[in-house]
Amino acid sequence: MEFKAIVDVKARDAADCAVVGVYEQGDLGVAARQIDAQTGGLIGKLHANGDFAGKVADVLLLPAPAGTAAARLLLVGLGPRAGFGRKQYRKALQAAAQAVGKTGAASATVYLALEDLADLDIGYRARVVAEVFCVNAYKVPDLKTAPKPKASKLHRVSVATDTARAARAATDGLTAGEAIGSGIALARDLGNLPPNVCTPTYLGNRALQLAKEWPSIKAKAIGEAGIRALKMGAFLAVTQGSEQPPRLIVCEYRGAKRSVAPICLVGKGITFDSGGISLKDPPAMDEMKFDMCGAATVLGALRAVAELKLPINLVVVIASCENMPSGTAVKPADIVTTMSGQTVEILNTDAEGRLVLCDAITYARRFKPAAVIDVATLTGACIIALGHHFSGLMSNDDALAAELAAAGVRADDRAWTLPIGDEYVEQLKSNFADIANVGGREGGACTAASFLWKFAKDLNWAHLDIAGTAWLSGSQKGSTGRPVPLLVDFLINRAGAK
Ligand code: BES
Ligand code: MN
Ligand code: ZN
Repeated sequence: MEFKAIVDVKARDAADCAVVGVYEQGDLGVAARQIDAQTGGLIGKLHANGDFAGKVADVLLLPAPAGTAAARLLLVGLGPRAGFGRKQYRKALQAAAQAVGKTGAASATVYLALEDLADLDIGYRARVVAEVFCVNAYKVPDLKTAPKPKASKLHRVSVATDTARAARAATDGLTAGEAIGSGIALARDLGNLPPNVCTPTYLGNRALQLAKEWPSIKAKAIGEAGIRALKMGAFLAVTQGSEQPPRLIVCEYRGAKRSVAPICLVGKGITFDSGGISLKDPPAMDEMKFDMCGAATVLGALRAVAELKLPINLVVVIASCENMPSGTAVKPADIVTTMSGQTVEILNTDAEGRLVLCDAITYARRFKPAAVIDVATLTGACIIALGHHFSGLMSNDDALAAELAAAGVRADDRAWTLPIGDEYVEQLKSNFADIANVGGREGGACTAASFLWKFAKDLNWAHLDIAGTAWLSGSQKGSTGRPVPLLVDFLINRAGAK
């Protein structure tokens, strides 16, 4: 990514654009107060005239005000001082990034981290600046033939800090924010690509390419013969109706001693989910190209971890294939034997995510992981339960669930805990096999997670259902990169705790 974030210790005004915060009621932020003094009360006048109210995310661009060194001044509303916190900070930064990106400025200095943000340390504040500006610079890899609009000139953002010590912490924060931004961009790119391009083979190749770019990563893409040799009967059942060959993608990142147990991220990589013989309805079926977003986001998190050289070991396992109807496709009532040895009656071929994931989770056992977290666009029922605001979070370990939920809060990428348990497994009873792959409409997100739980027994395991958070529909259609921010925050904290 060409976008570069740096720290500006002395808070020089030499940048093309100075971004300063103004609270509501003419209550000036730290830098705004200084500029107001330098400019004979310019900002105070703007407020008195009713030209700038300081509501959260209000912006006003001023050209080269006399008395300041910056070529442009961007006022950003912070809302009432009393209510200024993490949410308002991020919102204001998003508005600023968007506004600066539309100007001719090549560089910007952000002064917002100087404001009173009680318990948010300067590293975190800088991290959010870099992440927000990186995300704002993201462009969808479209295949439109019309000439592309000119890219924004903005390529550098600095964070003003008041001490050398704060500047050092801010530098680390900016690095983290950029890495998260790049991880998000990778995940979004993979999600946004059309399913005739982003096939299991393509995903596998991108993983191999990632390993080339980052020597700390080793990757392999196992084909159908290898998947058969592993006896992944559930995974094979899903892929058997498709012309596209499947891939079991395995990436290993080494940042700690070999003896340190790795964290294992497992991603659902269905590059197109037609539903199979249990065919989906046509409306919005195109959005089932996003059914590989679990895979995309674990790769995005892996990339960020490699860039940050986190002192942890990380394994990524992705089960990737298409779910298609055909003469060779798996049928409702077919029974398969999973890698774990448990048999599954496939009553609905559209509940394919749990089938590929149960084998991927079993495969993950060979790494003797400290924790296994699977990430999947698993159920429409999760969207009914939580809408598009929270990812669903299920776990067999309350401490792990709490850790992931806290990471989601810090990263502004939240997840909400939902239950799993024997009651839900009861719904998955089969007369002919150990377990059925569907358990009725009621509690659909919980039965799906409870199915996986049966394969995660004795593992420290959590499941993120990202069906409602991985992409946006309508005119905003496109992948969001969630939950890369949550995952990377979790891994940064795991690295620090060691
Ligand atoms: N990939 C879908 C889940 C999904 C659906 C995500 C819509 C986002 C939007 C998954 O494979 C699926 O089809 N799940 C079924 C399960 C059902 C058959 C028990 C569902 O949610 O309808
Ligand atoms: Mn499905
Ligand atoms: Zn699916």
